[in-house]
Amino acid sequence: GAPVEVDITGMAPGEMKTVEWRGKPVWILKRSPDMVASLKKTDGQVADPKSERNKEDLTPEYARNEYRSIKPELLVAVGICSHLGCSPTTKFQPGAQPSLPDDWAGGFLCPCHGSTFDLAGRVFKNKPAPDNLQVPRHMYLSETKILIG
Ligand code: FES
Repeated sequence: GAPVEVDITGMAPGEMKTVEWRGKPVWILKRSPDMVASLKKTDGQVADPKSERNKEDLTPEYARNEYRSIKPELLVAVGICSHLGCSPTTKFQPGAQPSLPDDWAGGFLCPCHGSTFDLAGRVFKNKPAPDNLQVPRHMYLSETKILIG
């Protein structure tokens, strides 16, 4: 599949867009400062905080950091659950779902078997999904343009 160019001009903090790449949904999430800060808190709650599992497939070298991204505020991730391939939904608000903990800092919830992911796409411990969400290869063409693939 051909690489996909995404224009992120004017994205507000907390805003997410989805583009299609190789038939898969790719999420572009502009994390707010609070969202970025929440990753410190979830660090101890996720199964693979440093993205060491399947890293060649799931996490390009430049995203093997606590943000899983090139720039702390901008997450680029494939929106497909690493369990059986459902598409997780975004759950940014505390109390968005009764099954989420009270201190939920936001993230993604897979409707199929309840796996949850933090705002860097890292899977929480003791969930059916074995891995973090995939960060696709991508690069910045400019401040406001990303090339995915
Ligand atoms: Fe997502 Fe099973 S497919 S938890």
